[in-house]
Amino acid sequence: MIELKVNGQPRKFDGDGDMPLLWYLRDELALTGSKFGCGMGLCGACTVHVNGEPVRSCVTPVRTVAGKDITTIEGLSANGTHPLQLAWQEHAVAQCGYCQTGQIMQAAALLKKTPKPTDQQIDAAMDRNICRCGTYTRIRAAVKEAAGVKA
Ligand code: FES
Ligand code: FES
Repeated sequence: MIELKVNGQPRKFDGDGDMPLLWYLRDELALTGSKFGCGMGLCGACTVHVNGEPVRSCVTPVRTVAGKDITTIEGLSANGTHPLQLAWQEHAVAQCGYCQTGQIMQAAALLKKTPKPTDQQIDAAMDRNICRCGTYTRIRAAVKEAAGVKA
């Protein structure tokens, strides 16, 4: 039995501990905000926080998060009003939207550690989150707006 917390709620999992965390979140908990993109840790669409750190849930076996705190996009704020979520709307960042929950979770981890990031810090933190629609310029502007640094 694996015990963990997801978005503040205690959970118990008694299935295959090698199952990717993403499967558990989407298929068992119906938290479908985190997306399956590459399934190989390469695109970032599945990014969630594990104890506050951004993690690629598609390549993270559930057994490795026993006892840990998981936050998904659904738990980032109670009602979609995290500063990044508001800035994302303000800048109309999303196109198809598929990558965007991963982008926001990656950015949220950045702002927690570095509340006023430079362009270089934003680019370095977001570098491995792929957007096929090419929304990178708007992502950077939205991160800066949420951080309250000059766009
Ligand atoms: S789906 Fe996890 S990194 Fe691409
Ligand atoms: S908005 Fe379409 S992949 Fe990023």
